[in-house]
This record gives sequence, structure tokens and C-alpha cells, in this order.
Amino acid sequence: MLKFLKLTATICIMSVPIYADTASLGRLATSAEVNAWNIDVRPDGLGLPVGSGSVAEGEEIFVEKCAACHGDFGEAVDRWPVLAGGQGTLTDDRPVKTVGSYWPYLSTVYDYVYRAMPFGNAQSLSPDEVYALVAYILYVNDTVDDEAFILSNNNFLDMPQENSEGFFMDDRATVEYPIFTRNVCMNNCKKTAEIILRAAVIDVTPEETAAKVIEAKTKSEIEINLDDELIEEPIIEVLNQELVTAGTKIFKKCKACHKVGEKAKNGTGPSLNGIYLADGAQVEKYKYSKALRSASESGLVWDDLTLRAFLTKPKKFLKGTKMSFSGLKKEKDLDAIIEFLKLYSQ
Ligand code: HEC
Ligand code: HEC
Repeated sequence: MLKFLKLTATICIMSVPIYADTASLGRLATSAEVNAWNIDVRPDGLGLPVGSGSVAEGEEIFVEKCAACHGDFGEAVDRWPVLAGGQGTLTDDRPVKTVGSYWPYLSTVYDYVYRAMPFGNAQSLSPDEVYALVAYILYVNDTVDDEAFILSNNNFLDMPQENSEGFFMDDRATVEYPIFTRNVCMNNCKKTAEIILRAAVIDVTPEETAAKVIEAKTKSEIEINLDDELIEEPIIEVLNQELVTAGTKIFKKCKACHKVGEKAKNGTGPSLNGIYLADGAQVEKYKYSKALRSASESGLVWDDLTLRAFLTKPKKFLKGTKMSFSGLKKEKDLDAIIEFLKLYSQ
């Protein structure tokens, strides 16, 4: 404030020759005017006028000039501000913020009371009256407990304030700014995106489509790869009906040993439900040959190629298999039976 005033004064002096002749604007501020304006009191004590006042004196002034609004003991009347109490409540859901619990510097109390109170008659108090009032405010906040206590410009800085450590310098420039300004990834940030929940599961899909979604899910896992925007389609093929019908007939050759459909059980051979694209030898409770088990362990999967080879000449494709079947010779029979097996793998 003082610095600012000096600056203003300098500008005024510099300005005088220019404006004096022309518009006759402005004059130097008098020292009384500067003093009236320069009333701030700072935490380090700068700006504190010489003076003193006791708690007892303060109480008298307070009752006369402040209590109508703030209550006899700073407890407040109606909804006027509370000046006392609330210590230890700052971390509560409903903190009580008062001069005693919240204000970090006593200098602010002095500054505020002189600058703004009593409400409606600001800056009417003498320094001694303000010292006395601040002493009384300390008293109702239990900082001092003797009515004879005298607060003055000499002991002012020794008075403790409960929340003096509660405020700190704004460190956002060093603490927060780097967080908000670092380079953040804006595209292709994640290698893969995995579906962890489906609309059907969290119940936002209408009933009739929900059933289909769940069905599709059991058939295949849908993967979306953000890197190359490649979407693997779920393996729901539209089957060739003609081939399936033809396959039904071919399956008669297998029926003695294999069953398919809802009630299919293992017989001489394992049930063939879900065999297409399944690992070899995975049907439960079926006792496979060692040959098929070890082929499966080496990664045998029943796809078009392996099924075709196996069903053409079982014993040639898989030496040691216990499937005693001579094989299908015709290309179209192989196409048909594979299509048929797909039907029971959906
Ligand atoms: C007519 C009612 C009234 C009177 C009389 C009055 N005040 Fe106030 N006081 C207020 C109001 C209203 C506020 C809040 C002002 C604001 O927030 O802008 C306040 C705020 C304060 C505060 C700050 C409280 C806080 O925690 O924000 C203090 C300290 C204070 N008054 C002290 C005094 C003293 C000392 C006197 C007597 C010299 C006094 N007041 C007389 C109405 C009054
Ligand atoms: C005489 C009985 C018999 C006939 C006929 C037969 N199979 Fe098999 N099949 C088996 C046996 C036994 C196994 C188990 C092989 C093993 O463990 O080595 C087998 C295994 C299979 C497997 C591998 C199953 C798995 O879980 O890995 C497929 C696929 C298969 N048969 C398809 C067929 C088809 C299709 C036909 C008709 C075209 C057919 N089989 C005809 C007895 C038969």
C-alpha cells in the first residue's frame, strides 16, 4: 500500500507540469490523507499503531458497540457472525470458523475491526479501543484468561493463533501446473481394448436382443484392436443348408459310435457336440487313445484342415487312434460332414 501510494505520488508530481496549465487536475495527497488511507496491519506487525488496551476495557466497549450483533461473548445474535469458539472443528463436516478457530493472524483481527467495525460506523475507533477490543476477543476465545491482561503494540506479535499454520503460500505453479501441462496421450494410447462387460450383462439391452447377445458371447470372444482398427468378427457363420442336409446323411456312417444333439452321450466314440474349432480330446469323461491325447497336447485343433485330413484316413492322420473308420473319400462328403459338425458347434 505504501509503495503504491509513493508511486501514485510520483506520477502526480510528474503529471503536475502537464496538467496544471491545461486542466488543473490533481494535487499532491496530504500526509493526513495518506495516513487515513494507509491503515493496513500486516502479520509481521508492520502498520500497528502505538497503543494498548485491557480485556476489561475491551469488554465495556464490546458490550456497548459490538454485542448487539455479535453477542456479549462473541457467540453472535441471530445470524450475525460468531467471533468465538469452534476450536478444533475445522476438519469437521460443519466447521465453525471464527477469529479464534480459523484466522491465522491476529494482525488481521486488528486490521479488520478498525477498518470495518462497528458495522455502519467503520474507522471510528481509536488505536487503544481497538487493542482493548482485540484483547477481549482473545479473552472470549480463551487465548488469555485474565481480565487485567493488556494487549499493546509491544506484546501483540507474541499472541498465539490456533490456526497460524493452516495457511500456506500458493504452490500450484510448482505442484499442480506440471501435472496439467505434461504431454498426455490423445490417440492409440492403449494397445488393446478388452470388453469386460456387456450391455446384456449390465441389463441395458432390451430383453429379446439380450438373449442373442449372450448367445453370441458364448460362441466367440469379440476383440477390438485399436492399433490397426482391426475387428475380429465373431465366428457365427451362415451355414450352407444344402451341405448340412447332405451331412445329416453322411453322419449315418458315424452314428454307430458318435452322437450329437441335446441328449448326446459318449459311446464307442466321444460325443461330437462342439467339436468344430475345439481342441482335440476335450470331451469330458471320454477315454481317448494315447495318440489323440498327445496330439491334443501338441496343439491339435479340429478345424477344416485337420478334420478333413483325419476323416479322409483316420489311421494315417493319427497313427494309433482307436477310431476304426476307413474314411470318407469324396470331397463333397467331407464338405458336408464338416458343415454338419459346425451346426452342432454353434
Ligand atoms: C450492526 C451489526 C454489527 C455490529 C454492531 C458489529 N458488527 Fe462485526 N460484523 C458484522 C457483520 C455483518 C460482519 C460480517 C461482515 C462481512 O462478512 O462482510 C461482521 C464481522 C465481524 C468480524 C469478522 C468475523 C468473521 O469471522 O468474519 C469481526 C472480528 C467483527 N465483526 C468485530 C466486531 C467488533 C469488535 C464490533 C464492535 C466494535 C463489531 N464487530 C460490531 C456486524 C456487526
Ligand atoms: C467305429 C466307431 C467310429 C466311427 C464309425 C467313427 N468314429 Fe470318430 N471316433 C471314434 C473313436 C473311438 C474316437 C476316439 C479316437 C481316439 O481317442 O483316438 C473317435 C474320435 C473322433 C473325433 C475326435 C474327437 C475328439 O474329441 O477329439 C472326431 C472329430 C470324429 N471321431 C469324427 C467322426 C466322424 C465325423 C465320423 C463319421 C464320418 C466318425 N468319427 C466315425 C470312433 C468312431
